[in-house]
Amino acid sequence: MTLVHVTDLVKDYGLRTGLRRTRLRAVDHVSFDLIPGRTVALVGESGSGKSTIAKILTRMEKPTSGRVDVRLDDGTPVHGSLYQRQVQMVFQDPFASLNPFHSIEHHIARPLRIHQRTRTAAETHARVLEMLERVNLTPAETIAPRRPHELSGGQRQRVAIARALAPGAQVLIADEPVSMLDVSIRLGVLNLMGRLQREDRLAVLYITHDLATARHFSDEILVLYRGRIVERGPSDAVILDPHHDYTKLLASSAPDPERLDRITAAVTVDRDAIDNSVCYDHRTSRWVEAGVPSVTAAGMPAG
Ligand SMILES: Nc1ncnc2c1ncn2[C@@H]1O[C@H](COP(=O)(O)OP(=O)(O)O)[C@@H](O)[C@H]1O
Ligand SMILES: [Mg+2]
Repeated sequence: MTLVHVTDLVKDYGLRTGLRRTRLRAVDHVSFDLIPGRTVALVGESGSGKSTIAKILTRMEKPTSGRVDVRLDDGTPVHGSLYQRQVQMVFQDPFASLNPFHSIEHHIARPLRIHQRTRTAAETHARVLEMLERVNLTPAETIAPRRPHELSGGQRQRVAIARALAPGAQVLIADEPVSMLDVSIRLGVLNLMGRLQREDRLAVLYITHDLATARHFSDEILVLYRGRIVERGPSDAVILDPHHDYTKLLASSAPDPERLDRITAAVTVDRDAIDNSVCYDHRTSRWVEAGVPSVTAAGMPAG
């Protein structure tokens, strides 16, 4: 079992505008925990810093400051190749994330070999078929030799999920995993992720801009606005009783045909007046400074 403890994460990007150099704070003092068997949703509009957080968690980017602490439940720190194996990502674009020149089998076999999860070619092949079956890509024998272009977007995303889980992922970072898929197949892919999460007791960060699926598929919601968490708490509390103007705006924004429920609060929020310096925390029922982690996400002891 693997726990992730994110403390006071900051990420600045240097920007060059003409002759001047400025900096953009993409992530601004963000703290949260991921624990086995639970899904945390990170919700926010485009540009709010969601993917930057995902990239820092998967070590594709370095934070400017702050810490990502990953430990086994006996307290042993996880780093190096164990980190690479245990913390896996599913990307937004299922068309860009698979190599068009390689077979589906290759995509799943590669991490098995890199992380030495299998010893022989026969064992690798058997494991690939097993993973394809787990993500409902059947018959696995006919899917394995195919190339990505022979699969639909939904099937490719299932391959991406199988690839992430194959080496033994414990922590899954899913960055808008269904936003590029047809509306009709989104729920199928999300339900699949939910089942795998329960079976493997994964710690999941589900990144989305859709509050309705965030509520349905996660235990806790973090609302991100301009790099800061402005509201956080158990999913039902955040959705049914939003406090921050930005959450209210998200909740009242254009209805999605796939919404699992209706949020009827017709609020008028002046976007220019939205304040991201404060955060409403449903666990303490208090407003706090947005950068201050008031309580750990699920009562996990700090450290
Ligand atoms: N490599 C980069 N260089 C400069 N700015 C970046 C870079 N990556 C992201 N940004 C900026 O950081 C902010 C957050 O981006 P991102 O994390 O991708 O947001 P989201 O995933 O929520 O849409 C945006 O303003 C984006 O333009
Ligand atoms: Mg993004």
